[in-house]
Amino acid sequence: MYIVMLGAPGSGKGTIGKILSEDMRLTHISTGDIFREQISKQTELGKKIESYISNGMLVPDEVTIETVKTRLSEDDVKEGAILDGFPRTVAQAEALRDFLEAKNPSQKRIAIELDVPDSEIVKRVVNRVTCSNKSCGAIYNLETRKPKQEGICDICGSSLTKRADDNEETVSKRLAVYHANSKELLEFYAKNNRLYSVYPKQLDEAVANIKAYLENDKGSN
Ligand code: AP5
Ligand code: MG
Repeated sequence: MYIVMLGAPGSGKGTIGKILSEDMRLTHISTGDIFREQISKQTELGKKIESYISNGMLVPDEVTIETVKTRLSEDDVKEGAILDGFPRTVAQAEALRDFLEAKNPSQKRIAIELDVPDSEIVKRVVNRVTCSNKSCGAIYNLETRKPKQEGICDICGSSLTKRADDNEETVSKRLAVYHANSKELLEFYAKNNRLYSVYPKQLDEAVANIKAYLENDKGSN
């Protein structure tokens, strides 16, 4: 199964994507995480995309689509994956559909929308801290999901850091970019009855609702 996580910045795509990934044994792929790693290593790709991300803009479709196709060609995602933050445009959604139809037509494809009011978003994002160990990447919130020990990851003991794009100004831009693209993107999935929307107010409840939906979903693609 390929699960696409849609939602504004801070809606919980990473948090819920990681829980579903562990519960369902599907690899979690976050385009934001891939891009940030490329930036921290200062690769050719990293240098090319850095200014888009620090300004809260979308990385161009052709670069993003190529990055995801390369990742989806690896062995650990042949039977499915959780795609966090991809697609974000209809062009990306069409490219993903065409790629998976050619590669793996028998696997189900479903989009989950995390529909959080804008009024909650900035608060969530400015209070986020993330594990600096890339292979862990646990996500905390200084208000709602505090680490047991300040500045230290509960899971692996590494230090916690703030993302460079998690300031109020960039979050507002990211939110505006999200709203400029989301209507068309949600329609793309709703049209084929492949969209489940949830307001993840309580994390446990939202995860349970999503899992119940996925278990009961009888559709194919
Ligand atoms: P990306 O890293 O994907 O950022 P984003 O979309 O802005 O989303 P976030 O990671 O900020 O939020 P999230 O939804 O994962 O929330 P989280 O679980 O962390 O992308 C970064 C940039 O890369 C983009 O701006 C763009 O430039 C580029 N990019 C990426 N993909 C691209 C694409 N496809 N095309 C083009 N460009 C692309 O949760 C947030 C906080 O809330 C945490 O502190 C968490 O603990 C807390 N929280 C979570 N759930 C709850 C809850 N239920 N109640 C209370 N608090 C909660
Ligand atoms: Mg994220």
